[in-house]
Amino acid sequence: MTAAFSRLWAEIAPIGRDSAGGYLRYALSEPELILRDWFRNQADRRDMTVTDDGNGNLFAWWGRQWGPGTVLTGSHFDSVPHGGGYDGPLGIVSAFLAVDRLRAAGVTPARPIAVAAFVEEEGGRFGLPCLGSRLLTGAIDPDSAAALCDAEGVTFGEALGDRPAGALPALASRVGAVVELHIEQGRALAVPVGVASAIWPHGRWRLEFTGDGDHAGTTRMADRHDPMLTFADTVLAANEEARLAGALATIARVSVQPNATNAIPSLVRAWLDARAADTATMERLVDTIVKRAVNRAARDGTQVVVEPESASPEVAFDTTLAARLSALLGDAPILPTGAGHDAGVLSAHVPTAMLFVRNPTGISHSPAEHASDSDCAAGVEALAEVLKELAGPS
Ligand code: GLV
Ligand code: MN
Ligand code: MN
Repeated sequence: MTAAFSRLWAEIAPIGRDSAGGYLRYALSEPELILRDWFRNQADRRDMTVTDDGNGNLFAWWGRQWGPGTVLTGSHFDSVPHGGGYDGPLGIVSAFLAVDRLRAAGVTPARPIAVAAFVEEEGGRFGLPCLGSRLLTGAIDPDSAAALCDAEGVTFGEALGDRPAGALPALASRVGAVVELHIEQGRALAVPVGVASAIWPHGRWRLEFTGDGDHAGTTRMADRHDPMLTFADTVLAANEEARLAGALATIARVSVQPNATNAIPSLVRAWLDARAADTATMERLVDTIVKRAVNRAARDGTQVVVEPESASPEVAFDTTLAARLSALLGDAPILPTGAGHDAGVLSAHVPTAMLFVRNPTGISHSPAEHASDSDCAAGVEALAEVLKELAGPS
């Protein structure tokens, strides 16, 4: 299986790769469209019919489309800007190889298996993570999704070429189980394969710091109303408060106007990503960060406005299913994660599980993200076992 994995992985490895080895695979951008063609091609090679749910999500079918008890697997192709190649695509490549594995073993599943490629999981282009699964489950209405804009002003509706179709009403009655395989994204897994227990609640907030744009050479220090200072102090406050709360806060994306070396900025726009083990802790953390930003703004003579952009509630995966899969995989460890996934969105509607593949360094959302081919092959074997268990005769 390791050789089969290496071969298939090599087919997609160059697509959207930058000169530093990271990936620029924004949803519905050229590299992602190439990957979607690759997906159709892989499905064709396996006599699997591909359907599109009208939201940008693709499904390759082994068995009757949306037949009762469908087992949904797969993941996403899009990456964070200059991120790793495993986050997402590993789940899709592994799903096709798991189908091969089952077929080679002569398994004929009693229920349909669908390999999914969800659109815009990272929210890297249109700002809202898990957009495809949110649309499929009705967690966002099609008009709001269609209006989401990328950095160039292109809307999701325009990129998709249509108004999204929205929720699939039959989802909960048609899909019996979801299982997404994913690279583990911390240093929490010491063996090749684990099973997920939970996803920490997380969210994104847009922070707009405004002040008085002015000349860097003629404005006395005492006369300045510089939003960069308020922003900088807020970055430090977020880090400190997250540490105190045993939670996570990150400000990693920022845009400045006018972004000139010799001009005091008039606007600093930044995005806060906050996560915690429970929603109350996360909300308290964000409140504290915002209070500190507002206090600092009063000192700096600037203003700060905070807008929530996305909320992903706490997910507890089906404990019975997780225990069953762990036992099936020889007591695989069961572990939580701070990373978001389409499986988390789907879990509100369908019994859902995730398999994690060991990440030796724990690095993710970075070009250094990596899993060994042999661990990935172990992931394929585990996924094949799980699909057989969930889709096979019972
Ligand atoms: C997605 O990977 C996220 O956790 O932000
Ligand atoms: Mn990710
Ligand atoms: Mn992912």
